[in-house]
Formats: sequence, C-alpha cells, structure tokens
Amino acid sequence: MELDGLTMRFGERTVSRDIHLTLDPGRVLAIVGPSGCGKTTLLRAVAGLIQPAVGTVRIDGQAVTRTPEGVAMVFQHFGLFPWKTVEANVAYALRVSGVPKKAALERARELIRLVGLVGFEKSYPHQLSGGMQQRTGLARALAVRPRLLLMDEPFGALDAQTREVLQFEMLRIWQDHPVTMLFVTHSIDEAVLFGDQIAVLNGRPSGIAELIDVSLPQPRDRSVLATAEFLAIRERVWNLIMTGQRD
Ligand SMILES: Nc1ncnc2c1ncn2[C@@H]1O[C@H](COP(=O)(O)OP(=O)(O)O)[C@@H](O)[C@H]1O
Ligand SMILES: [Mg+2]
Repeated sequence: MELDGLTMRFGERTVSRDIHLTLDPGRVLAIVGPSGCGKTTLLRAVAGLIQPAVGTVRIDGQAVTRTPEGVAMVFQHFGLFPWKTVEANVAYALRVSGVPKKAALERARELIRLVGLVGFEKSYPHQLSGGMQQRTGLARALAVRPRLLLMDEPFGALDAQTREVLQFEMLRIWQDHPVTMLFVTHSIDEAVLFGDQIAVLNGRPSGIAELIDVSLPQPRDRSVLATAEFLAIRERVWNLIMTGQRD
C-alpha cells in the first residue's frame, strides 16, 4: 500500500496534509496520533470510502477509487450486523464474494475457533460482551484472507483488561496467520507492540512527524513491554505527540 502525498479535507478544513507512507507485504504499519488528528479519515481513504483532496492511494500499484478487492476492516465499534448470528456475521463477506453457503460456514467456524468463540456460533451480538463482539469482528475480517487488513482502534471501545487480553491474543493470531496490516490507534503501547514501523501523526492539520522503525524481535508477547527498547520507543513517540499538541 502506498499513500502518495495525501491531503484530506472536509469542506474548507484541512485535516491532514501531504501524507506519504508505504506499507510492504507482510508488514505492520502503525499510525499513532491524538484523537481527532485524522486517523480514521486516512483509513477511510485507503478503504476507498472517501477520496483525498490531493494525492493518491495505491494498492498493488493500482490507484484506489472505490473499495478495493481483498481489503478488510475492523472497526472500533465492532460494526456487526445485530440481526445476524456470530457465524452469519463471520460468513457474511464470504457469502457476498460468492462463496457457497456450506463452504462459507465451514470457513466461518474455522475462524470462530481461531478467535476463541466456540459455543457462541448461534449467539447474536447483543448477547456478547464487547470483547466477544470484537473477536467476531476480527474473525469476519480474517475470514476473507485479506491482502490488506485495516484496523481502526480495534480495542479502543473495550475496558482496560479486556483490551490487554485481546491485544496479546491478536498478536498470537497475527503470528500464526500473518497479514499485511495498517493499524491505527491512539494508544502508544499498542503502536509499539504491533508496528514494524510507526508513523507518528501530529499538528493541525496533521502530518507525519516521524517514521520510526521498531526493531523489537518477532514474535512479540507481553515480555517486550519491559524491554529497554520498548520503553525508549514509547518515550520517543510520546514526546513527538506532545510536541504537536496545542491544547
Ligand atoms: N464526515 C466528516 N465531515 C466533516 N468533518 C469530519 C468528518 N469526519 C471526520 N471529520 C473531522 O476530521 C477530523 C479528523 O477526524 P478522524 O479522522 O475521525 O480523527 P481520529 O480518527 O484521528 O480521531 C476531526 O476533526 C473530525 O471532526
Ligand atoms: Mg478515529
């Protein structure tokens, strides 16, 4: 994925300016920045849901003008169909892309196992905790074997403990099923934990303050939280974000 000089505007208001970023296959790019700096707006442009005022989004060299094939998204507020069961939610994108019902359900059950929801196949979203709803969202996104996974603060709506559990579980899942991932978050810890690279957004309109390589070894688990490198990068990101804050 390539963002080539993206400027995002709503009416007269410029949200972000001149964003250049590249994400190579199999890698994870984390974008971190304060609330309101334009992270979701950038993701929506990558997903082809809105068009940049200036610049181009490319995926596999193709300019994105509408939602590209093979791009899946996990939203902060789950975005599940309330009238569909867990397995129907997970199978949905497969069905839409023409996978026969039986095969789609089989694949859905595989993913339900992967995210630890066995026994809840027939439950509806309102019968699930926030964490379980997000596991469902994750299973749905992974079910299509996306070539690019867009994560928009996927753990942001969860309580602190559930968030931590899901973060480390997602790391485990990603290690077993690597997928190219653009991971947007306002959590610095999360950015360092997941990113091979971190793009720090700050300012108004926002721009990339710095692109940081995270050389923490993979696979990562809880133990990286206590390493000197984790803490050093965390501190660096924090300072960059604070430098850009005016209120
Ligand atoms: N559809 C929209 N119309 C007008 N302004 C918007 C729209 N979506 C987002 N914005 C504004 O753009 C800015 C960036 O929003 P957003 O991308 O959601 O930030 P973030 O995800 O980093 O919190 C915010 O000031 C927000 O109010
Ligand atoms: Mg957002």
